[in-house]
Amino acid sequence: MYLQRRNRILRQSAAIRSLVAETILTPSDFILPLFIDEGENVKTEISSMQGYYRNSLDITVREVKELWSMGIKSVLLFIKSKDELKDNTGKEAWNPDGLMQRSIKAIKNAVPEMIVMTDVALDPYSIYGHDGIVKEGEIVNDETVDALVKMSVSHAAAGADVVAPSDMMDGRIGAIREALEESNFTRTGIMAYSAKYASCFYGPFRDALDSAPGFGDKKTYQMNYANRIEAIKETLMDVEEGADIVMVKPAMAYLDIIREVKDAVTVPVSAYHVSGEYAMIKAAAKMGWLDENKAILESLTSIKRAGADLIATYFAKDAVKLLNA
Ligand code: PBG
Repeated sequence: MYLQRRNRILRQSAAIRSLVAETILTPSDFILPLFIDEGENVKTEISSMQGYYRNSLDITVREVKELWSMGIKSVLLFIKSKDELKDNTGKEAWNPDGLMQRSIKAIKNAVPEMIVMTDVALDPYSIYGHDGIVKEGEIVNDETVDALVKMSVSHAAAGADVVAPSDMMDGRIGAIREALEESNFTRTGIMAYSAKYASCFYGPFRDALDSAPGFGDKKTYQMNYANRIEAIKETLMDVEEGADIVMVKPAMAYLDIIREVKDAVTVPVSAYHVSGEYAMIKAAAKMGWLDENKAILESLTSIKRAGADLIATYFAKDAVKLLNA
């Protein structure tokens, strides 16, 4: 009795495994999220994201130059707003001299080719830590969309390549697209956080920006993690409204959603490997329970295999170093 097929033939050496590998990570798959602080020469480690820092703009600009030289083509900007600038209108979000707008200009000035993406949501600017305007304990949709439109146009005016609304209000993609057209920002892209779930895995991010909700949770706008078909509905609507790239977030607990979204749309799909996913690997590695480098590559490859064309990940630099090793 002879075997007709021996699957192990294609696994017997590193060389043959790489010849038949179906999924290959490359530096241009990655978007690196950056947390930016006021001040100069300020570098603060995020306690729940060991090895990850919130940096002032001078340090950030140096970092972006290094990222470009490593082959990383995109950064996603988040700022930590001063408490005294927070209110319930979010108006600091479209201040032309705000930290975000200054950051976009400084980064595009230093490394013009770098694709600068910007987070669009009110939470860093909200006294309530919510992504929208609060009235009688509710997050009001349409007034929030008006604010997000002003925020997006101000990012485009500062030179952002792509605005990335992460707020999950209804109708915001169409409204932002229309406003960009009206203002003649015809080269600004929109990366829509389309299937963004109400997830506990954002916890460390909220430490990084001091943006945890002051009351309640985000379940009236972010999606219920029990739902799959709703992710397709949200994504198709965002594409219809003008999104250039759609996103699924978080990533590792949502690989099924990434695959289904990838099969449903004809625009690039990104996935956000979020702060809690970073923290889990870091914490387990620190305990000596996981090999950090192997966990990084296995995680990111699985996200790409699931269908992500782009991956926003705090491990982008580590991954590029590992891929070049
Ligand atoms: C804010 C925003 C969040 C993240 C990206 N944009 C947090 C939230 O929705 O509460 C999470 C990113 C991460 O956890 O890495 N709208």
